[in-house]
Amino acid sequence: MARITAGVGTSHVPLLGVAADSGKTGDDYFQPIFQGYEWTKDWEKEQCSDVIILVYNDHASAFDMNIIPTFAIGCGEFFKPADEGWGPRKVPDVEGHPDLAWHIAQSLILEEFDMTIINEMDVDHGLTVPLTMMYGAPQKWPVKVVPLAVNVVIYPVPAGNRCWALGEAIGRAVTSFPEDLNVQIWGTGGMSHQLQGPRAGLINQEWDNMFLDGLIGDSDALRHIPHIEYLRETGSEGIEMVMWLIMRGALGPKTRCLHRHYHVPCSNTAIGHIVLEPGDS
Ligand code: DHB
Ligand code: FE
Repeated sequence: MARITAGVGTSHVPLLGVAADSGKTGDDYFQPIFQGYEWTKDWEKEQCSDVIILVYNDHASAFDMNIIPTFAIGCGEFFKPADEGWGPRKVPDVEGHPDLAWHIAQSLILEEFDMTIINEMDVDHGLTVPLTMMYGAPQKWPVKVVPLAVNVVIYPVPAGNRCWALGEAIGRAVTSFPEDLNVQIWGTGGMSHQLQGPRAGLINQEWDNMFLDGLIGDSDALRHIPHIEYLRETGSEGIEMVMWLIMRGALGPKTRCLHRHYHVPCSNTAIGHIVLEPGDS
């Protein structure tokens, strides 16, 4: 039987990919950011996970105004790093797990979550930066990845409650997969940030830490936060945090926190990171 062993939340700020690719992780500006991932890098080495269900959003790299899937699952064999304007990042291709991905797609669709099935798509910083933060710069990524792309770019985006429920259904899908697999689920994006307009640069440390607190333990209060609160309190791009609720929902009724990191600034944002295990504290 496959099982979800842990959940990871992390920002996916593109500047961190640039810093890693250009050897700047030890610079004064970046050191405190990358330092907060050292614990996780060591822990990930011990975990030897087989597959990551990596919840992220595409930033107009694979999708554009022509097609806007609300929830899309990558069922292909490989996914290439996207060209985001400066050529693709020189990181390894991402290897998929088509058998698990098709099983999850079937399970979710039969549970009435109408997933879009994607066989070919390039993956942008939303997916590759978290891999860099957790695994550094290997020749080949040490895990397979099932990409799960969420529309958080074009209104209307899915409600937090729907994201949490999708996570719960993903949990059931994974435990009904017959092969023994250690699976993690990652939720990426956030934390508070607004990249354009009069409120560009908005960061709300208090709210971000309330959100991190809310992921731990047995409360499901976060699933009921309305879009307008994300917008008002965390800026226009803070809505990316609904993707962390898919990760949280998949972990079941209770979680305990293994590691937590929060730092300001990182580009125009607050960077946040948490590692959770299902179960009692
Ligand atoms: C930036 C872009 C993102 O997609 C994000 O999640 C955070 C920051 C940026 O351009 O700085
Ligand atoms: Fe983003």
